[in-house]
Amino acid sequence: MKREYLLVIEDEKNQREILTDFLKKKGFSVDSADSVVSAKKLLSKRDYQVILLDWKLPDGDGLEFLSEIKEKHPLTPVIMITAFANVEHAVLSMKKGAYYYLAKPINLEELLLLVERAIKEFNLTREVELLKEKVKYFSSQFKISEEGIIAESPAMKKIFSLVNKFAEASAPVLITGESGTGKEVIARLIHHLGPTKEGPFIQINCAAIPETLLESELFGYEKGAFTGATHSKPGLFELAEGGTLFLDEIGEMPLSIQAKLLKVLQDGTFRRLGSLKEIKGHFRLIAATNRNLSQLIEKGAFREDLFWRLNVLNIHLPPLRERKEDILPLTEYFIKKFNTKYNKKIQGLSLSAINLLLKYKFPGNVRELENRIERGIILTEEEILTEEDLGLTESSDRKDEFLENLLSLPLERAVENLEKYRIKQALQLSRGVKSKAAELLGITERMLRYKIEKYQIGG
Ligand SMILES: Nc1ncnc2c1ncn2[C@@H]1O[C@H](COP(=O)(O)OP(=O)(O)OP(=O)(O)O)[C@@H](O)[C@H]1O
Ligand SMILES: [Mg+2]
Repeated sequence: MKREYLLVIEDEKNQREILTDFLKKKGFSVDSADSVVSAKKLLSKRDYQVILLDWKLPDGDGLEFLSEIKEKHPLTPVIMITAFANVEHAVLSMKKGAYYYLAKPINLEELLLLVERAIKEFNLTREVELLKEKVKYFSSQFKISEEGIIAESPAMKKIFSLVNKFAEASAPVLITGESGTGKEVIARLIHHLGPTKEGPFIQINCAAIPETLLESELFGYEKGAFTGATHSKPGLFELAEGGTLFLDEIGEMPLSIQAKLLKVLQDGTFRRLGSLKEIKGHFRLIAATNRNLSQLIEKGAFREDLFWRLNVLNIHLPPLRERKEDILPLTEYFIKKFNTKYNKKIQGLSLSAINLLLKYKFPGNVRELENRIERGIILTEEEILTEEDLGLTESSDRKDEFLENLLSLPLERAVENLEKYRIKQALQLSRGVKSKAAELLGITERMLRYKIEKYQIGG
């Protein structure tokens, strides 16, 4: 059985049955209607690939109905059937957007050729429509290869071997890791190494798009599905056909859309908004998040069933501070990259800059390193980047570490540590003069002496 659905709208019983039976015999699925009203009912339930429409119907004018159909289903070919060869009718039909016209008595072989050609053209127009949308998403795409990705640390090497294994499979992949750790890079690599690499890599950031828009972006819509839907548009599920759909920041996806996505993953099918036609999707899904999904599940902000669907294959990217072996190779890679971009000849880093980099916590991970190096290369007039060029100082990082420690201690200990730190600092600044130090701290000298005694500061 062919998958194409045809609709025959013809009030004459005999004629309707001849057409319907013939097309069914040729392997099409055929519905038929004897009036405008019943045709409308059928049209609201299914998308047809070709419609045969009689010029004269008991409850309406075929030509007017043609305009109505073209308004709602602009791509669907409509073949008009006229009672006799009438040039005027033919011209009018074609003007109103008919695909072709046939005069009664209908030559069935001619009809078959026409229907088959219309289906071919219909499919082509759909494809062009899809391609047009895809081009928009392609423009942001870059070629990626393993050489462009640095993985020197054991942790990253392990991830590379996982990526190679996962790429073969078709199951969803969930990539987790702090911001800037390279989740997108890994998603693209999986696509690039997998069986769908010839297909598109379609990406959407779930955090960047309002809820209602996100739904129509993903599912697409038919003309008239909602106010403002002036044309029909394929969604990302359709655009990703044969390729990969990358849902970035999945942790920010609203619950209502999580439920809909779950259904798509369960059934493998979806519908455009305002359409009843089920579309089968064949794409690979990769999702990424820097959020802790288990915590979100506990808070009721993420569906546990969706989590299990997505988390079939998991890749966790460790923060850069936990794979220090990557820091210098990445630095070298970025220096080369930005030397080319800005036409500079930076040779490397000063020793103290290297030391600082290796100690630094990189809250923004690889992206932060990349940004610091780009900034340094733009700013410097020298051939060696210093810690100032990178915007790093010994104390900025120490402060971070100190604060982090404080935040993890019980309150009483934290207060003690903070007091000790501030007192030592004040004593240093006042070169040991206690009255001055007390003034700096905003306490009495007596109180300061008491605390120095208590914490046994400075012998
Ligand atoms: N291993 C790597 N080798 C080379 N470049 C990398 C590597 N990892 C990350 N990068 C670079 O670091 C930047 C951040 O990477 P990416 O956008 O993939 O991170 P992310 O985890 O998706 O971040 P966010 O959570 O902020 O979206 C990019 O410019 C990317 O090219
Ligand atoms: Mg990202």
